[in-house]
Amino acid sequence: MRIPMDIIGSKEKAVAVIDVPEEQAEAAVEEIRKRYKHVKSILLKIGGREGVYRICNTKLIWGSQDTEVIHKENKYLLKLDPLRVYFSPREATERQRIAKLVKPNERVLVMFSGVAPYAIAIAKAQKDVEEIVCVDINLVATQYATENVKLNKLDDKIKVYCWDVREASGLGKFDRIIMPLPETGYQYIDVAHRSAKEHAIIHLYGISETKDFSDFEKKLKDYAQRFGIKIKILRKSKVSEYAPHKVKVRFDFQFL
Ligand SMILES: C[S@@+](CC[C@H](N)C(=O)[O-])C[C@H]1O[C@@H](n2cnc3c(N)ncnc32)[C@H](O)[C@@H]1O
Repeated sequence: MRIPMDIIGSKEKAVAVIDVPEEQAEAAVEEIRKRYKHVKSILLKIGGREGVYRICNTKLIWGSQDTEVIHKENKYLLKLDPLRVYFSPREATERQRIAKLVKPNERVLVMFSGVAPYAIAIAKAQKDVEEIVCVDINLVATQYATENVKLNKLDDKIKVYCWDVREASGLGKFDRIIMPLPETGYQYIDVAHRSAKEHAIIHLYGISETKDFSDFEKKLKDYAQRFGIKIKILRKSKVSEYAPHKVKVRFDFQFL
């Protein structure tokens, strides 16, 4: 039986998030219990990601109610509870792609930072980064982010704030800004604009339904125009499949 799922956690304790029709759930549970002894809880997806916090809509169908885990990704650890925060282990490769672009002495802003996987990936890959600032509106995510920064001994490099990005102030200007909120991130382009140093690079995630991503480009440019903001796109990349006929994309750009 093929079970579409994510396993989040460690060899000692993991949570499986499965995406099967409800009538196949029992068979899937049996299979997972046989194959993955370290899985202590099984969550069934019952909808998409929801609300401002973008948490996966799931229900516990087997195992422990304690779904907090420590996930190992590359050479760092991420403590989190998938019932309370956004996290996707599938984005590990994308985090590495971004981390490798960061140069020494950069100040980096990670908007919509969740439990801080981007910030930690960057700080591990670029030891000479000057500072990374994380902002997320979900208090629980920022509490985990703060714990994760300590867990990975990166207190001297990463700062975490629980704020609506739009309300954030006094953070200074940045060389690089990461905007991993694909559904509505482009609506914060004015915030990125006022937080960017001259020549700063912005990595914005979005959703596209066209082969050349022109639908997302138009949305972004139209929105930017409302604020009189002009951009120069450096690169457009497909990140992953998102939904039938929709892909997640990343646009790298600078402000003109
Ligand atoms: C798609 S998740 C990405 C989380 C994290 N960057 C990651 O890759 O695991 C988007 C995050 O944006 C946060 N968020 C949504 N709207 C926000 C806002 N206006 N200000 C700050 N954070 C926001 C949510 O709480 C959520 O943690």
